[in-house]
Amino acid sequence: MSGLLSQVDFGVIRRRVREFSGLTFEDDKCSAVSKAVCARMDELGLEAPDDYLKLVDAGASTEEIAALTARLTIGETYFFRNKNHWRAFDEYVVPTILEHNRSNGRRRVRVWSAACSTGEEAYTAGIALRERVAGLDGEGVEIIGTDINPESVAKARTAVYTANSFRGVPDGIRQRHFEEVAPQRYRVKDGVRSLATFRLLNLLAEGEMASMRGFDVVFCRNVLIYFDKRTARAVLGSLRRSLRPGGFLFLGHAENLHGTASELQCREVCGTFIYMRASDESAGRHDDPSETLLGEDENASRGRYVQPASPGSDSAAAATARVSGGDIIDIPSPAGPPVPNDASSTASATDHEAESLDRLGARAIECLCSGLNVDARKWLEEVLAQRPDDVTCRLGMALLLAGCGDSDAALHYCNSVLQDDPLSAEARCVTALVHEGLGSYEVARRELEKAIYLDSRFSVAYFRLALLHERMGSREAGDRALRSAIATLGDDDDQRVRLYSGGYGKEAIEQICQRRLGELALTAPSPQGRGG
Ligand SMILES: C[S@@+](CC[C@H](N)C(=O)[O-])C[C@H]1O[C@@H](n2cnc3c(N)ncnc32)[C@H](O)[C@@H]1O
Repeated sequence: MSGLLSQVDFGVIRRRVREFSGLTFEDDKCSAVSKAVCARMDELGLEAPDDYLKLVDAGASTEEIAALTARLTIGETYFFRNKNHWRAFDEYVVPTILEHNRSNGRRRVRVWSAACSTGEEAYTAGIALRERVAGLDGEGVEIIGTDINPESVAKARTAVYTANSFRGVPDGIRQRHFEEVAPQRYRVKDGVRSLATFRLLNLLAEGEMASMRGFDVVFCRNVLIYFDKRTARAVLGSLRRSLRPGGFLFLGHAENLHGTASELQCREVCGTFIYMRASDESAGRHDDPSETLLGEDENASRGRYVQPASPGSDSAAAATARVSGGDIIDIPSPAGPPVPNDASSTASATDHEAESLDRLGARAIECLCSGLNVDARKWLEEVLAQRPDDVTCRLGMALLLAGCGDSDAALHYCNSVLQDDPLSAEARCVTALVHEGLGSYEVARRELEKAIYLDSRFSVAYFRLALLHERMGSREAGDRALRSAIATLGDDDDQRVRLYSGGYGKEAIEQICQRRLGELALTAPSPQGRGG
């Protein structure tokens, strides 16, 4: 085959790739996908696209779709990528785990680098652990790296790297943990290499995912950005179950929980965000095998507030002591009185008799800002039952439903607000969120541009537009939007920022924008147009 796939063939192939791997390809990626298909057809000695389509669409085997997917993945990675993550790992996560192990009689630290690409992330964990814990060996630590791409996994096993993987790695680390095996080719030394094993694993494969259990730390960075929201949510549910209670999850900085998997607490540590599975078993949800990957959607709104580790607890004390200058912040930290985490939280309207609807609405919005979706929903429903025209609560409900993937209901609320107030920038922003979740990026972009037109100081609209542009491969436009987000954050309303960004505060957003700008300047354009 030469040239582009027809739109119909492109549609079939991208659907199969998405079903298999979660990777999504917009219309403008037809040429990249066509190239990969051409390469596979050459390898298989096929000339007619129809013959290739039969192979891909056969349904009986995923072998060919796996081979094609491997050609479409973006494996961008390097040692110590995202320095703040590794600071948080070193200064907070590892001490917390060691303390936990000491008090529970556990001997091993277990780390999973999910979507590890060529292994740099897994070996970085090994290096960080070796640097911190004297005499650490395979008895004391187990690191597993997995990826969907067999070539990447093979390369991870050989553990030989070139300069590209060493961006920003201090010389001392390079000398201690690598040996030059050929000019400009460095192999990870045995001490670290022996800590890590690698294997193929598809994050969407329920059976394989179910076998990954009991990890202290999971890294799943810079892969969910390639998935649609529904798939990202499902994978997040699986990752949560792979952590032991109290275990930590690292996501890429353009990735967040999308308002789901709320039994993961977000913590700001060393200037970055990490997530922790609730350590309190009573707050943690059961590992129900009937919770299938895609069934997770239904659970999306079952968020619960879990008290952060009490400051007096051993692990918190040990860990906090290692982190200088109060550099750790628990999120969510709901304003006002803590929201109870038991049956009493199902209090009905009568329990709130003394509270005006205004206060109830305000509390609902604050809960929403903090990811306490169950409580937010209950109170939003209470307010809306008595005051169906309340704009803030209708928008809050739209946001909540968008976060649960209930697009129709979310759009219903957005449209009802827009009918009353066609100039509502916030309603445009939520509408964009819903369309982005549905994969209609063009519609989402237009809605965000309308939001900005209606309110040129709406910082989160710029921020969301920037991420969307990046996803769509428009880097310059993304860059501009990031700068506008930074410029408008200062004057924007704190709560509005947290509400429409999914819980991030101004400082966090500014940091993310700054980091994205730095990274965008450094990262060469990728075939999919998204910096991986
Ligand atoms: C950009 S790299 C990220 C590497 C590393 N986590 C990091 O942040 O530096 C994304 C990786 O995700 C892998 N990937 C994509 N879809 C996957 C899936 N469904 N299951 C497992 N890995 C997947 C790709 O093969 C690629 O190696």
